[in-house]
Amino acid sequence: MNSCYKKDEWLIIEEGFHPELNRESESVFSIGNGYMGQRANFEEHYSGDYHRGSYIAGVYYPDKTRVGWWKNGYPEYFAKVLNAPDWIGIDIVVNGIRLDLAKVKISSFKRILNMKEGFLERIFRIDISRGRSLSLSSKRFLSMAEPDLGIIRYSIKPENFKASVSYTVYLDADVRNEDTNYGKKFWKEVYREVVAGKGILTARTMKTDFHVSLGMRYLLMKENSPVNFETEIIDRPKYVANTFSAAAEKGEELVLYKFVTVQSSLNHDKKNLTSVVNQRIDFAVNAGYDKLFEGHKNEWRKIWSTSDVIIDGDISAQQAIRFNIFHLNQTYTGKDERLNIGPKGFTGEKYGGSTYWDTEAFVLPFFLKTASREVPRNLLIYRYKHLEKSIENATKLGFKNGAALYPMVTMNGEECHNEWEITFEEIHRNGAIAFAIFNYIRHTGDTQYMVVYGLEVLIGISRFWSQRATYSQDKGKYVILGVTGPNEYENNVNNNWYTNTIAVWTLSYTLENLELIKKESPGKFKDLVRKTKLDFTYESNRWKDIIKNMHFPYDKETKVFIQQDGFLDKVIAPASTITPSERPINQHWSWDRILRSCYIKQADVLQGLYFFEDRFNTETLKRNFDFYEPITVHESSLSACIHSILASRIGNINKAYELYLRTARLDLDDYNNEVADGLHITSMAGSWLAIVEGFGGMRVHDGKLHLNPLIPEQWNSYSFNARFREILFEVKVSGKGVLIRNLSGKTLQLVVYKKEYEIAGFGKSRIEV
Ligand code: BGC
Repeated sequence: MNSCYKKDEWLIIEEGFHPELNRESESVFSIGNGYMGQRANFEEHYSGDYHRGSYIAGVYYPDKTRVGWWKNGYPEYFAKVLNAPDWIGIDIVVNGIRLDLAKVKISSFKRILNMKEGFLERIFRIDISRGRSLSLSSKRFLSMAEPDLGIIRYSIKPENFKASVSYTVYLDADVRNEDTNYGKKFWKEVYREVVAGKGILTARTMKTDFHVSLGMRYLLMKENSPVNFETEIIDRPKYVANTFSAAAEKGEELVLYKFVTVQSSLNHDKKNLTSVVNQRIDFAVNAGYDKLFEGHKNEWRKIWSTSDVIIDGDISAQQAIRFNIFHLNQTYTGKDERLNIGPKGFTGEKYGGSTYWDTEAFVLPFFLKTASREVPRNLLIYRYKHLEKSIENATKLGFKNGAALYPMVTMNGEECHNEWEITFEEIHRNGAIAFAIFNYIRHTGDTQYMVVYGLEVLIGISRFWSQRATYSQDKGKYVILGVTGPNEYENNVNNNWYTNTIAVWTLSYTLENLELIKKESPGKFKDLVRKTKLDFTYESNRWKDIIKNMHFPYDKETKVFIQQDGFLDKVIAPASTITPSERPINQHWSWDRILRSCYIKQADVLQGLYFFEDRFNTETLKRNFDFYEPITVHESSLSACIHSILASRIGNINKAYELYLRTARLDLDDYNNEVADGLHITSMAGSWLAIVEGFGGMRVHDGKLHLNPLIPEQWNSYSFNARFREILFEVKVSGKGVLIRNLSGKTLQLVVYKKEYEIAGFGKSRIEV
């Protein structure tokens, strides 16, 4: 576990430069604005170890699949988010010496992520040569108010000598992905233009033909007055730059402002890109740094005013939850239904920036409770638009009649994953997509969604389950064979309890809603039947039969749900008996040994108990938790949060707190030694849920909002804001009780510790329990 970061409520601070952890810090200090993101690389040249990464949402490349043993049904491509043309570059030469933090003597260094105002800053002092000392700082942000703009303020002050500073301000499209399958570069130049003070560079992606155009302008100020200089123009393939020099006397500050706009053909006609870039870059310069920064800060102020979590008495937990909320909002703003949330957001290339079930099962619940309903709705629409591709995907695997199998990993709806035990077998993902529709409607009350979009998706998924379940004569039950559950440390198992549960739930939920619209809107029902070619009588009879006769592995003796058929044949021993030096087991044991062991990567049966908690009494939840948690190694970032929520639910607050810290500080403390690859955006949403659903006990049952707050003994108090049916409310929990304030105009009805309350909008807007 590494933690070189200082504890602070609103800041993440790397004090002193840690080149050996540079990749980790580049991930941790990343900035983004939903439209694009940037790892915390240095603007100036750096010859040490780093991973330069700049990403634009929705701009990807389908890299040809590379596998050892090709299996029919594998996708031909793995879509990956591309490392986009570099916008931050500013090379610096001082008195003939190139500024390179790997080479100069660093006397002090701080890298700071300011989460309150949304910017990245470096403040450092170096000895450039023979005692000549320079103070530098760089501050940059990706505007939340003007998402196409990235802005840098770069300051240099010679402390004890007269400096001649030469700058090269550039845009560079000659970039590569670290994770290419064949070492190829993915960008081709389309256009470049460079004059004194301005550069434009347009490049296109191979195959997908996304055009991305960057424009830069800059200003150099000395002691608050503009500096004039001669400019040398550098114009070469995929690269445009201006080089110029300025002198600074001892103690004088030179400040360079670099303004960049990034446009893409996702939002503009290719032929208009240059004119949009010109317009936007002029707008940026005219608005100026201060005004743009003010607008950006203001957006963050709005975000924090509705989604902050305040923890009193535990700075570690406080910093962690803000870090999580900050990155979630940097990753997705919900403005564009074509975009989704990669498990690493904009902080790295791992997982290809593609969409996983993580979105529906973990991240959507965060946005459901913190953002206006358009945001989660856009996430659902993203999948709605991929329905046709999901039907094609299922057809390719041999399913018929409009059955839909949503991809395990995707960018544009096509499956990208290529390990048979996951691509073909980890089918529980389909259930999460159905569950998300239910979750969205129960939180927002937007029942129209079901009629207009939801049912089509549910029918496709139900048809898949109906064909994937087969009847076992031996058991006299329906079975689902050859699957991988959420616990990927078991493959090709029969009757994974979680998968069978979510399959049957989907069938019931689809039927219930079909019956409802058949009764209430016969016209719409007819349209749906026509559109989906639904044979209602035949298909619903089969679904009903499966619902009634599904096999669910259960052990009568221990009274726990069994993860899959035969699971109890394993030697069951708590994970605490594994030699500590062999953890994480996925970095130390052979895959074969992992598969044969009882150890569980992430919540599996417990994931089902979390989703369908209201069907089970506390005793059942507790029995299963006590059986499965000790044999879970939490080697997926999706694990600890679900366990924490369940631990709170069964009243095991100490365990809930231990697991909360693990999930919330997963990246800051690099528990799994992999932050260099990027942050765990999914588990960040899980951390927030561990507070709000876990400690706060927030649930929506039977159309009602419920709260059952608990407080860990380490905290004096905590408070969070959340939404239910577009009503924003604040919950403050302390040892003395619970205070709830209604922050909107409409009356809030809710159930606190099983008692019903009503809180009028504004005016008389609080209750104390
Ligand atoms: C987990 C999956 C998850 C994926 C991306 C894997 O390690 O087991 O459940 O979807 O990571 O976060």
